[in-house]
Amino acid sequence: MANIKFHLGEELPLEMHKVRMVQRLDLVPIERRLKAIEEAGNNTFLLFNKDIYLDMLTDSGVNAMSDKQTASMLVVDDSYAGSATFTRLKDKLNEIFGKEYFLPVHQGRAAENLLSMALVKKGTYVPMNYHFTTTKAHIMVNGGEVLELHMPEALNPISTEPFKGNLNLEELQKLIDKVGADKIAFIRIEAGTNLIGGQPVALDNYIETSQIAKKYNIPFIIDASLLADNLHFIKTREEKYKKHSIREITRLLSDTADIVYFSARKLGHVRGGGIITNDQGTYKKLLEMLPLYEGFSTYGGMSTREMEAMTIGLDETMDEEMINQGPIFIKYMVEELVKLGIPVITPPGGLGVHLDAMAFLPHVPKEQYRAGSLGAAMYIASGVRGMERGTISEERNPDGSDHIAAVELLRLALPRRVFTLSQVKYTIDRLAWLYENRELIGGLEFYEEPKVLRFFFGKLRPTSNWQEKLVEKFKADFGESL
Ligand SMILES: Cc1ncc(COP(=O)(O)O)c(C=O)c1O
Repeated sequence: MANIKFHLGEELPLEMHKVRMVQRLDLVPIERRLKAIEEAGNNTFLLFNKDIYLDMLTDSGVNAMSDKQTASMLVVDDSYAGSATFTRLKDKLNEIFGKEYFLPVHQGRAAENLLSMALVKKGTYVPMNYHFTTTKAHIMVNGGEVLELHMPEALNPISTEPFKGNLNLEELQKLIDKVGADKIAFIRIEAGTNLIGGQPVALDNYIETSQIAKKYNIPFIIDASLLADNLHFIKTREEKYKKHSIREITRLLSDTADIVYFSARKLGHVRGGGIITNDQGTYKKLLEMLPLYEGFSTYGGMSTREMEAMTIGLDETMDEEMINQGPIFIKYMVEELVKLGIPVITPPGGLGVHLDAMAFLPHVPKEQYRAGSLGAAMYIASGVRGMERGTISEERNPDGSDHIAAVELLRLALPRRVFTLSQVKYTIDRLAWLYENRELIGGLEFYEEPKVLRFFFGKLRPTSNWQEKLVEKFKADFGESL
């Protein structure tokens, strides 16, 4: 994708692909949207696709696949053990990342499960640039404690800092001095830090973290799920690496880590995951657990068709023209929202557009889940489904009180090559309407709350009849328009 100057004055992102397969979408009337969000317990995870116009919940497993990926799924060796499909994927990973051993898993969190079981002991710490929901849950289940050593700027919603995802190296050193290296199960850097707005990590930060990890003999693990965006940002924002190819950057980055794991729902544009390493000892330890939790070592719970498509998807990830599609669309949308004065996380990151619900809905009490409320309101106003990334996505404190998130975000994910510019413009328009009518939006409260990862299945109700009022105003402003 490239930003192209138009003769008529605009400068717009221009798609470097054409659409060769489509899926029908419907925009159901606002009365149905109100009913649908009520049936879903105001949890956008529980909406059904028939009621959704633009699905911006996530990019996980929903990025558009290329024609070459789809074609590759027909030429598959689906043997239970020792398939050639596995060898092709393993060789591709080795070629790109320079890691010899590969353990396939069914998705990213399965890698987190195996790594946490193998490395986290009760009373150990796992320092990281920022947590991800499933990562934290697995570490906690195994008795470890997650420590977020982010830079002060990481949580500042309005910023020009290009690498808000960097790990705070001073804090890391202080932690090692305080608790001792043997109490640290591993150090984790998450590429393209999901929960703070898809913010990238500088290549130099990976390198310096790795130097500290080596000095103290602590395993250094990279979560490469959101690597594609992070690669684009290293190339475009880190002066020192501007002339490097995406392949060279990937290799330099991978070389810093003892272990790299990823959700292939994001990296590789399929549905699966993997762990790669050059350390034979770690490989053997993880291999023992693989058949118990995932599957035999040459498929690990994945369909071999997906594995073929992953091999191609990983290769395509080395193409800057492909990986820039997400970030360029996101930049366009963020800049338009900033012009309209709508609070959104800056600088634009990867994965999606992250609305700052704290600033959008200051009148809603924090305990009434601002980001969740904004997500429900956005769905009612537009049929666009986003994801709450705030207090609802946190686990409760040990004393049962709500752990108020440091940032309250409504994420509107922009999976690659899925939406058109007019759909992006529609989303901006409905956000503008919502912002003008933000006083009408109220809070939510739980009426069904699972103990772990409550954001997936929890159900909430509005604390007043604010949703009906929002619908009335919509009808007054838009008349019969959907
Ligand atoms: C950074 C990060 N790590 C891990 C995961 C978990 O991956 P999966 O959803 O494939 O289990 C995700 C998923 O969104 C993620 O964004």
